[in-house]
Amino acid sequence: MFDDVAPKYDVVNDVLSMGQTRRWRKVVVEAMEVSKGQRVLDLAAGTGTSSEPYADAGIDVVACDFSLGMLKVGKRRRPDINFVAGDATNLPFADNSFDATTISFGLRNVNEPKKALQEMLRVTKPGGRLVIAEFSQPVVPLWRTMYTEYLMRALPAIATKVASNPDAYVYLAESIRAWPDQDNLAAWLQETGWENVTYRNLTGGIVAVHRAFKAADTTPDGAAAAIAANKGPVAKLRRNITR
Ligand SMILES: C[S@@+](CC[C@H](N)C(=O)[O-])C[C@H]1O[C@@H](n2cnc3c(N)ncnc32)[C@H](O)[C@@H]1O
Repeated sequence: MFDDVAPKYDVVNDVLSMGQTRRWRKVVVEAMEVSKGQRVLDLAAGTGTSSEPYADAGIDVVACDFSLGMLKVGKRRRPDINFVAGDATNLPFADNSFDATTISFGLRNVNEPKKALQEMLRVTKPGGRLVIAEFSQPVVPLWRTMYTEYLMRALPAIATKVASNPDAYVYLAESIRAWPDQDNLAAWLQETGWENVTYRNLTGGIVAVHRAFKAADTTPDGAAAAIAANKGPVAKLRRNITR
């Protein structure tokens, strides 16, 4: 399916999100707080749109995806980015390889998302961070109703006009509805061993950006302390995700 949508993927995204994707992506980059000399994994990177800000800032970014169609379009567009074929649930990278890992609008598409979260933890360095952007649940009831109407009725209709594979956008609407809300995704992060989990709602909760850290101390004692710390509530950051 991703191979089919690859050629018009970015244009269609902009139309269907009414231009919001640019803002969402900016928040992700800010939450990553990476600088030159650090190594970033952008997982489910697709055509590399989510990897571009790092490459543009001279940061070493690896754009990984399992769709060869998406990778091909990306490589043609941005030959300077390091595109790597790989499955999120079985990553082709050594333990502790990246200072920071990110996944934008991809985790929902992975068949075993918790396995992917464990793999991301494995390849991230101790003390390193993870930033996830994903569609979520609008928090205000009226906004939620309007959005659900858009998702289930308007989006497939618009996609028929602008997309090469409109069925992919019916799948998109259904997968968003079936996806866990902000708190449940935060709980998955804690269950899979991530620490200091926080999130920020964007566009009223249509999208949520979650951030989490890998324990700096990965010895058995450190891991036990991290599990104990995870029993606390998840902080909901509505403004800036702070260090
Ligand atoms: C909606 S695109 C997101 C692309 C990009 N991150 C962005 O923000 O534009 C989702 C991507 O997830 C990829 N994907 C889905 N399951 C995957 C898996 N198990 N391993 C790697 N990539 C996967 C798809 O191939 C697709 O390119």
